[in-house]
Amino acid sequence: MLDQSKITELNKIAKQMVQAGKGILAADESTGTIGKKFEKIGLPNEETNRQAYREMLFTSPGIGEYISGVIMYDETIRQSSRDGTSFVSVLQNAGVFPGIKVDMGTTADPSSPNEKITKGLEGLPDRLKEYVSLGAKFAKWRAVITIANDLPTSRNIVQNARDLAQYALECQKAGLVPIVEPEVLMDGGHTMEKCREVSEKVLVALFEELKNAGVALEGMVLKTNMVISGKESGQKVSPNDIAASTLNLFKKVLPPLLPGQAFLSGGQSEIEATQNLNEINKLGPHPWQLTFSYGRALQDSAIKAWQGKSENVKAAQSAFLHRAKMNSLATTGKYESFMENN
Ligand code: 13P
Repeated sequence: MLDQSKITELNKIAKQMVQAGKGILAADESTGTIGKKFEKIGLPNEETNRQAYREMLFTSPGIGEYISGVIMYDETIRQSSRDGTSFVSVLQNAGVFPGIKVDMGTTADPSSPNEKITKGLEGLPDRLKEYVSLGAKFAKWRAVITIANDLPTSRNIVQNARDLAQYALECQKAGLVPIVEPEVLMDGGHTMEKCREVSEKVLVALFEELKNAGVALEGMVLKTNMVISGKESGQKVSPNDIAASTLNLFKKVLPPLLPGQAFLSGGQSEIEATQNLNEINKLGPHPWQLTFSYGRALQDSAIKAWQGKSENVKAAQSAFLHRAKMNSLATTGKYESFMENN
């Protein structure tokens, strides 16, 4: 059992992470994933470039106005800006919580090879201790659920839910707020209705396992997908449809004790991710804060503007801060498309 003073402390941090007007920057791409982004701008995947890219993002002036926390990768949380200030201190000085991705990526599920499970439970408590000593306040673990002909299997859903729950409990014991991320992938030709059906099974299984494990719901943040159609479905769904369907699901399955849910962007464009979040919050207030924890939808324009060149840092930071501000407005339903041009 976690003691009450620990839960109170975790709850305080979780509430600040999802506070109205702020969201989380996912900058925790593994070395392989950031390499794919760099390829698009013709930049070699070297440590100096990865450092420079993250420094550009984290030192954006006024980042703390819109961003409550940044999720980093193991390499990143150990890096510093060129003036020698550690990235952890750069973020703390800006009023932003440093966070850390602690899963070790996905692998084929041995009992169902076309589905994935997430690696990283082995040795987790020791790694969490080290991250706490480096200054992390929260962690992230991502599980992915695949929709295809006979997928997902119930067994895969339950295994991922169990692993997420075990991770979450270890985090709370270590004094870190767990971001619990079950992502139903947008890949494939499935409809929004199918996404809704699968997302419901995933969240029901997750909250069951969290309860069984003794995780304090008030000391965690959920990070799941919106209810949305598959990328290859051709189904036309409006932000309104996505908002209504997502909220209908959340009202059914999310416990009121949960401080908040921070959406992933999952392959939505920058504008779609903002519009959808805005529609969701226009229908509020909700029992939980509903905010963003975007990777691609906060970084796509910024990396294009940056191109790996120091003379482009200011333009790249403006592009990043613009998206952060638009999403910040969307957390209270106050975003309007004309603001994109101002
Ligand atoms: P996207 O917003 O690019 O989906 O990334 C969020 C994330 O952290 C996935 O784990």
